[in-house]
Amino acid sequence: MTPADYKATLSFTNGAKSLDLPVYKGTIGPDVVDIRKLYNETGVFTYDPGFMSTAACNSTITYIDGDKGELLYRGYPIEQLAQNCDFLETAYLLLNGELPTTPQLKEFDHTVMHHTMVHEQMQFFYRGFRRDAHPMAVLVGVVGALSSFYHDSLDINDPHHREVSAIRLIAKLPTLVAMAHKYNVGQPFIYPRNDLSYSANFMHMMFATPAEPYKTNDVLVRALDRILILHADHEQNASTSTVRLAGSSGANPFACIAAGIACLWGPAHGGANEAALNMLYDIQKHGGVEKIGEFITKVKDKNSSVKLMGFGHRVYKNYDPRAKLMRETCHEVLGELGLHDDPLFKLAMALEKIALEDDYFVSRKLYPNVDFYSGIVQKALGIPVSLFTGIFALARTVGWIAQWNEMISDPEQKIGRPRQLFVGSPVRDVVPIAKRSA
Ligand code: CMC
Repeated sequence: MTPADYKATLSFTNGAKSLDLPVYKGTIGPDVVDIRKLYNETGVFTYDPGFMSTAACNSTITYIDGDKGELLYRGYPIEQLAQNCDFLETAYLLLNGELPTTPQLKEFDHTVMHHTMVHEQMQFFYRGFRRDAHPMAVLVGVVGALSSFYHDSLDINDPHHREVSAIRLIAKLPTLVAMAHKYNVGQPFIYPRNDLSYSANFMHMMFATPAEPYKTNDVLVRALDRILILHADHEQNASTSTVRLAGSSGANPFACIAAGIACLWGPAHGGANEAALNMLYDIQKHGGVEKIGEFITKVKDKNSSVKLMGFGHRVYKNYDPRAKLMRETCHEVLGELGLHDDPLFKLAMALEKIALEDDYFVSRKLYPNVDFYSGIVQKALGIPVSLFTGIFALARTVGWIAQWNEMISDPEQKIGRPRQLFVGSPVRDVVPIAKRSA
């Protein structure tokens, strides 16, 4: 880490000695004050629930400038990647730090596409679930279960093992997500086809049946590929931090990614795409565009707990660049399918316009995030609402793995162990039950 040419000094009003703290500079973004010695030297902790001001690691992978609405993977703007690269190219970049050359990409594609099958035993895990189980519940289980199949790649201190596990996870997630869908709808599982691209193969496993030939549509495959690119990584968000924290104890990568999937499921995080589409359905059901005003009033009411799903972000205080690209993709997909007049899309655009002009949202810098439009695109692709977050998990697996790998290779890596401000009872004696009063 590069030291800054200044220090921070922490002083106390209780007469305790003040403390100089080193400051480090990143290549871009805010400097950080290094507080690692704080407790040893002063006996106090810092307090930062929700990590509002805390950098938990140093990283070279993804950078977000929330004020500008900028997202960079390894320095490359997301707009350029979405325009020029496919998902596996982006995955290679996130994992290795550089964009691949043609032979490198060919080899990477070949390797990933030749690890797409899951152990035949895996289908019995699926058959143990209820047919109506939420796909995220299934995915937490089956991804965790992968660690029981691949004992040959579980030594996290061996870089080759880590690479093999990374490839397995990236290659098998589409198969597992598609199997979750097929199980839900009661159709036979469809085996992967390694001659197709990563995204085309996923569409094939989702929508083909043994009864008739299935031909993928290039526009729709490209739209899915773009969804995957836009969701591939997003710095130290809740699920990525979960993966890092789980991995910091030395847990195997399959278990760590299962932990990430569990965290992603929450409606404040990856579950927001599902929640956003359900919100649109709900407004539609109660009168559509005319009812937007009433809905916005509810959102602004502090006592209602209703949120405008797909709006707001901890880091972006400007339009989420992924939302812009997703809006564009939405136009392309609906155009291709002849659904220009899709009422949900119209409703979403009207809702966005009204919210962007409303002082409540303007003053809080609440803009659409990636989830606002991704649900409409996924619905148009034929993906059921309950699977939206599963698609997010599929894409984010690449980012999780890249971040996990970076953490394991970091010589400063330690088990993650936050401290607390204890506000419970001080020490007291147990009173025998017969003598306790209510
Ligand atoms: N609708 C209405 N009010 C909102 C919303 C929203 N979607 N988001 C934030 N606010 C208000 C919030 O009530 C608060 O108002 P006040 O200052 O009056 O108390 C203010 O804006 C600041 O919000 P916050 O909750 O302190 O912000 P946060 O950084 O803790 O939360 C968030 C960020 C994403 C959890 C939140 O904006 C939210 O719940 N959004 C809806 C869910 C969503 O779309 N999540 C997807 C995030 S992007 C994909 C991903 O990374 O997973």
